[in-house]
Amino acid sequence: MGCLQILLALALSSIIASGVEAAKHNLIVGTFSTNFLYTIEYDDETEALSLVAKTEVPAASSWITLNKDATKLYGTDWNAQEPSFVSYDVSDPRNIKHEATIVAGRGCAGCKSVFVSARRTAPYTVYGSYYYGDARCGTVMSVDRAGALDRVVQDYTYAAGSAVHGTAFSSPPDERFLFSADTPGDAIWTHAVDGTSGAVRPLGRAPAPAPGSHPRHLAVHGAGRYVYAVLEGTSQVAQYAVSDAGALSFDGVTFPLLREGADAAADFWADEVALAAGGRLLWATNRARDRARRGYVAAFALEPDGAIARQLFLRPTSSSGGFANSVAPSPADDAVVALTDNSTGFVQIWHVDRGLVANLDIEDGGGCCANAVWLS
Ligand SMILES: *[C@@H]1O[C@H](CO)[C@@H](O)[C@H](O)[C@H]1NC(C)=O
Repeated sequence: MGCLQILLALALSSIIASGVEAAKHNLIVGTFSTNFLYTIEYDDETEALSLVAKTEVPAASSWITLNKDATKLYGTDWNAQEPSFVSYDVSDPRNIKHEATIVAGRGCAGCKSVFVSARRTAPYTVYGSYYYGDARCGTVMSVDRAGALDRVVQDYTYAAGSAVHGTAFSSPPDERFLFSADTPGDAIWTHAVDGTSGAVRPLGRAPAPAPGSHPRHLAVHGAGRYVYAVLEGTSQVAQYAVSDAGALSFDGVTFPLLREGADAAADFWADEVALAAGGRLLWATNRARDRARRGYVAAFALEPDGAIARQLFLRPTSSSGGFANSVAPSPADDAVVALTDNSTGFVQIWHVDRGLVANLDIEDGGGCCANAVWLS
């Protein structure tokens, strides 16, 4: 064997030994107050993060999400005078193109767009949520054939005092229900989703585990039996059972997102809950209100049906997290998430067994980093 063949054989055997082909992954990160999107690359062999593009865009997106094919990106317009959502083509992540801005939620005075989610099944409609002011609104938006935001299909309302900070769909292939975490309303709503228009119709409203729990974001298990809520008010993850008709019931299971003795109400405001692609691992995070304190990241092992089996760890994060400390599980590796912070501005990669493995500081004057999405 020549030198090249030996090298090739060695490279091949290390790929086979690790079971996963080494690869570079692209992520996009949004900001709270500066008009940029950051494209970053994660090399899972060297475990290094690098900045590959900084794109000036017309909006600061406190939340971004991808369409099913990861070719279009939808975002909130956090600083818009009128609540709005933005739409980009990201098929080339080094050349992001703004395609549409949609004004919505007009019936809700003084609100901001804070969250957006996209159906992964036809008609691929996009759902917008609001916070601040009178934020009881929700919006359904259609997309054109390529996936760009097209127009408002429906502006609907929850109830007086409601403000939804996160939505999630029941499991594919049908995504029949939309679940909405009503933070000040201390409830999780179920809406039926029309499979043709994407419009929603209210079916029910399940109470939070306790007044002041403040459900914030949701994750739905693919087996269709459980929904998880991160409770901003009490710094917990709560497990809800789902009936075939989409009715939610809190089944008494919660796990803490802070150490014993810490004051959830005074010092923390839990942020995110997210499911790894394989459906056997759940991640959740907590943020500290004070920059001098640190937030937490936790992971949970799930039974095959989605029931939470146990908490694997609760680790302090490097910072308070600022307004973020959001986690986004990798679609390529169930063991890995991207975590974002806007107290100083960074993106990190955390590994379920090894903790923090990579860090990238992004200084953009206080806007970065809100949340991250993985393109691959
Ligand atoms: C993080 O974002 C929030 C929301 O826009 C902002 O109020 C805060 O000042 C940001 N943090 C820093 C350190 O800039």
